[in-house]
Amino acid sequence: MKTYRIALLPGDGIGKEVIPAATKVLERSAEGFRLEFEPFEWGCEYYLGHGRMMPEDGLELLRPFDAIFLGAIGHPSVPDHVSLRELLLRVRFGFDLYVNLRPIEILPGLESPLKNKTAEHIHMLFIRENSEGEYAGLGGRFKRGTQDEVAIQQSVFTRRGVSRIIRYAFEQARRRPRKLLASATKSNAMQYTMVLWDEVLKEVGRDYPEVSVANYHVDALAARMVTHPESLDVVVASNLFADILTDLGAALQGSLGLAASANLNPSGQPTGPPMFEPVHGSAPDIAGRGIANPIAAIWTAALMLEHLGETAAAARIMNALRAVTAEKRVRTPDLGGRNSTKEFAAAVTTAMA
Ligand code: NAD
Ligand code: IPM
Ligand code: MN
Repeated sequence: MKTYRIALLPGDGIGKEVIPAATKVLERSAEGFRLEFEPFEWGCEYYLGHGRMMPEDGLELLRPFDAIFLGAIGHPSVPDHVSLRELLLRVRFGFDLYVNLRPIEILPGLESPLKNKTAEHIHMLFIRENSEGEYAGLGGRFKRGTQDEVAIQQSVFTRRGVSRIIRYAFEQARRRPRKLLASATKSNAMQYTMVLWDEVLKEVGRDYPEVSVANYHVDALAARMVTHPESLDVVVASNLFADILTDLGAALQGSLGLAASANLNPSGQPTGPPMFEPVHGSAPDIAGRGIANPIAAIWTAALMLEHLGETAAAARIMNALRAVTAEKRVRTPDLGGRNSTKEFAAAVTTAMA
């Protein structure tokens, strides 16, 4: 029987709650194939014991797996720029997972905070550049701690990096019924990086005459997501722009606990396994109470199965998830309910029976 080896990295905070919950759902969904999980206890606790977020050869340890399923990283005891750079960004960059796919949709029975907007209006697929841009990590600080201190954080936009993400976005747009692509730019103020972005959008667009393209300034795009979400389908954006827009997207879905994501290298020559993670963070404000919404993690699990080629199992999870949300009976507190993480996941598992 086909066996997939999954590296489990629950990480910190609610990552340790939503990953076990979603793993139970994954286990129930596996029919006709096997899932073999190997847990890695890397994260901020590991950092406090070892002085690092993961072993030096951590990427080598992850490389043989078919996929990585990650919860969230970040704890108040470790500076975020250390914990996130040394683990999450190290995996994204180290394995060149240049696509971060983030669907924004309304599940049945759930409501967007937007008045009169329903599942019919909110149906976006964000394609986030995930390997360079504002997150490149180049820069430094000069005259540290003095009144003359200078901090420089350099953005890196390469023609290769911009082309491959925009091409991927066109490929996604082409396959969807509306064949609509929106791009987030800011070329009115950023005359180098974002003008390159716009030029590449035009160039690559010539290969996709069937796709309608709209290039919005990112500030106007943020407003449009609220005022006219129905006018958006596939959206491509740089690393930082899409980071911000997808938390807005999660809020439009109804909670940060709903948004799923996949980090992929669709080039055909991957340098490591894909990584799947909910969009939300470790939520220290609610961690340890067992009330985190596991929907983002469960949806992410379905994305993982889909990308492993197990589309029937992915559909089983999504159908069960939709059946449970439609019923409006079991809900975690972020959605106004009183149920726990475990109770919600159990309802999804039962719905798959
Ligand atoms: P966050 O996403 O952790 O939390 C923001 C708000 O949303 C909080 O009020 C939280 O309780 C709520 N929330 C998030 N997920 C939820 C869920 N599943 N169910 C119910 N409520 C949920 O963002 P933050 O507070 O800015 O960051 C907290 C820590 O997480 C920081 O260390 C940050 O750097 C880190 N972070 C990590 C990731 C990641 O590992 N992928 C992503 C974002 C933030
Ligand atoms: C996300 C997170 C990360 C990001 C942080 C924690 C580095 O916010 O995955 O959206 O900005 O990519
Ligand atoms: Mn984010």
